[in-house]
Amino acid sequence: MPELSTIAIIGAGQMGGGIAQAAATSALRAIVHDPFPGALDKCKALHAKLLARAVEKGKMSQPDADAARARISYTPNLDDLRPAQWVIEAVVEDAKVKKDLFARLAALFPDPAVVLATNTSSISITEIATAAGPAPSQARVVGMHFFNPVPVMQLVEVIPGLATSPEVTERTVALAARLGKTPLKANDRAGFVSNRVLMPMINEAFYAWMEGVADPDAIDGIMKLGCNFPMGPLRLADFIGLDTCAHIMNVLADGLNSERYRPCPLLKQLVTAGRLGDKSGRGVFEYPGR
Ligand code: CAA
Ligand code: NAD
Repeated sequence: MPELSTIAIIGAGQMGGGIAQAAATSALRAIVHDPFPGALDKCKALHAKLLARAVEKGKMSQPDADAARARISYTPNLDDLRPAQWVIEAVVEDAKVKKDLFARLAALFPDPAVVLATNTSSISITEIATAAGPAPSQARVVGMHFFNPVPVMQLVEVIPGLATSPEVTERTVALAARLGKTPLKANDRAGFVSNRVLMPMINEAFYAWMEGVADPDAIDGIMKLGCNFPMGPLRLADFIGLDTCAHIMNVLADGLNSERYRPCPLLKQLVTAGRLGDKSGRGVFEYPGR
């Protein structure tokens, strides 16, 4: 098998952008694809800003930052991903969108040695893999779950689906380590470990706000100071994206056969109003200028 040199990243949002940066600073080429207007420009500008900040803070030399930037390319065309030997999908948390994409990826990469990884937060890897065609093609589909912000967070949750080959799982563990992360394995159940535990807590914080238990600042202050969390659950929900939080809760409700996991009505209402958190400038809190 040729040595891994080039990764394709699909979705230039906060996760795809972060994964591309982690790849480029680990001496891998990254090709970022997103067909939506403006997404690639925003991603490129963020890479320039974060790498410049790393230089300012003395964490990276200017030549290393320049080399990392040069290793990232950006394209609105899926076909341009062909040179990649590994794909990481980081598009919206929607099973239909992901499955449509995996069907196209399986056709674009007929070589079964090319791994098709998904950064899904909660959707069944086994289900996504069904879109990749017959069993040999499904064996290369794996969950590779990064955490936000990717350049800072240590964990990659590695999730084999029912059809994933042990070899692909081990290659995923090795790639996560190469990216400077700590890989930990979880089984393919809705939300895996991370969001099975984290997201119901965030949802509960919305219920506490909706029911008037306390206002958002107090809810977050209590959880930050009382539990030593770096961010309160409502601030963290804005950081993750309220649309993503609501999608994850629906996956938990469907996957665990329990209505108690449905997104809180207030969370749903904010998403309907377009208040998605940091990425839209307003969620629970306001982020002027973003
Ligand atoms: N992108 C890249 N780097 C970022 C960043 C971003 N969006 N935000 C902050 N950073 C970096 C800063 O550059 C800084 O780096 P250096 O130390 O190298 O200078 C570092 O993070 C610390 O930043 P700050 O000093 O500005 O701020 P902070 O100390 O408050 O830390 C934080 C910011 C790291 C985001 C911290 O608040 C934190 O850990 N929050 C919780 C994050 C978390 O729980 N993430 C998991 C979310 S759940 C998930 O990802 C899974 C899912 O499926 C939903
Ligand atoms: P985001 O909304 O910031 O970005 C999603 C990107 O996907 C957008 O740029 C959009 O243009 C693009 N996109 C949508 N459909 C596409 C398609 N068919 N082809 C190519 N690009 C497409 O979302 P995000 O926060 O980066 O989340 C992406 C994925 O990562 C989701 O599955 C999410 O659950 C998961 N995730 C998110 C977090 C988080 O904290 N936000 C953490 C871990 C995992």
